[in-house]
Amino acid sequence: MNKMSSIHSLSRPVASKKQAASVQFRNVTKRYGSVTAVDDVSFTIEPGQLVTLLGPSGCGKTTTLRMIAGLEMASEGQILIGGRDVTNLSAADRDVSMVFQSYALFPHMSVLENVAYGPSVQGVSKKDAYEMAMEKLSLIGLKGLEKRAPSELSGGQQQRVAVARALVLEPQVLLFDEPLSNLDAKLRRRVREDIRELQQSLNLTVAYVTHDQEEALAVSDHIIVMSNARIAQTGTPRELYEEPANLFVADFIGDANIISGDLVSVTGLMAQVNIGNFSLQLPHRNAGQGPVKLAVRPDAIVLDESASGVLTGTVRKASYLGTQVEYEVESTIGNLFVVQHGRKEPIAPGTPVSVSFTTQRGVAIIPNA
Ligand SMILES: Nc1ncnc2c1ncn2[C@@H]1O[C@H](COP(=O)(O)OP(=O)(O)O)[C@@H](O)[C@H]1O
Ligand SMILES: [Mg+2]
Repeated sequence: MNKMSSIHSLSRPVASKKQAASVQFRNVTKRYGSVTAVDDVSFTIEPGQLVTLLGPSGCGKTTTLRMIAGLEMASEGQILIGGRDVTNLSAADRDVSMVFQSYALFPHMSVLENVAYGPSVQGVSKKDAYEMAMEKLSLIGLKGLEKRAPSELSGGQQQRVAVARALVLEPQVLLFDEPLSNLDAKLRRRVREDIRELQQSLNLTVAYVTHDQEEALAVSDHIIVMSNARIAQTGTPRELYEEPANLFVADFIGDANIISGDLVSVTGLMAQVNIGNFSLQLPHRNAGQGPVKLAVRPDAIVLDESASGVLTGTVRKASYLGTQVEYEVESTIGNLFVVQHGRKEPIAPGTPVSVSFTTQRGVAIIPNA
């Protein structure tokens, strides 16, 4: 194993607990030859917040994270941590730790030695380093396992050791790159909740990379959605879900039916939008008169077997999933994916239905579509 790449604690030792720090990118670009991995990206992570970088593979998430750590240098722009310009500082001079995707624990060292490694190489005495390591191991629920080798731990426990190792020097900012990808599906939910709980109880500033939108919605204060090296939208989980700024975000965050409508008039903040013969009042979101695209969440669509409404369709497929029934409906406004909660008997395929919309919360005009 390459030793350098496995050193998780990138920061220098510190005497006392510090305040969480902000992270700011100002028009940051990273180029690798002719590839622009990150393109003119600006954002701020407030102190003590968990912000997720979310997007499909190759959109620039890891590169962004590595630039926070100082493992990659920006080609253009400015990076600030705790208000200090760190753009040209090496990883060792930034007070940041990273938990890598692979954990990369030293296999020949015990759990305790793994966690104490960072302080030891920084010149802290063995006794003090072990003490610091033990403190973090008990914090993270691994007390009693400190003598084991990493190979004697489960995937979830190894992940915790990696987190303890990143925390041991009490960095100003903690970075996670797809931390759950080596865990089985069942463990993922628990570990992501543990990470969130730890972040909140220690008031840590965390930048968290994932390609999984559900994971991002579950753990984040804010989400930065990236697409093709740029930011597609920034917001709280709820803002992104309920007010997607563009088609990419509408489609990437949760399930959405993208439906064509016609914006006919604006009154104050609201617009009248017609979908076929059906009329809705929606926030106009600065869209002008004329054709608009709407993001309609699957549970915002109501199906009624009376088939007497202005929009009609036919159920093509019904899947009973216990807490919900999922439908595919062929309708006058296109094919729809519909989720209905709390219904006992699914509507049988072939049944004619009328289609309407429950609340305005699950229906939004997509402004840049
Ligand atoms: N060291 C590198 N050299 C050349 N291209 C790179 C390097 N690292 C990343 N890239 C490219 O930059 C883009 C973004 O990569 P990355 O940040 O790893 O994306 P993500 O983490 O979102 O999957 C990709 O096109 C990738 O191939
Ligand atoms: Mg990546």
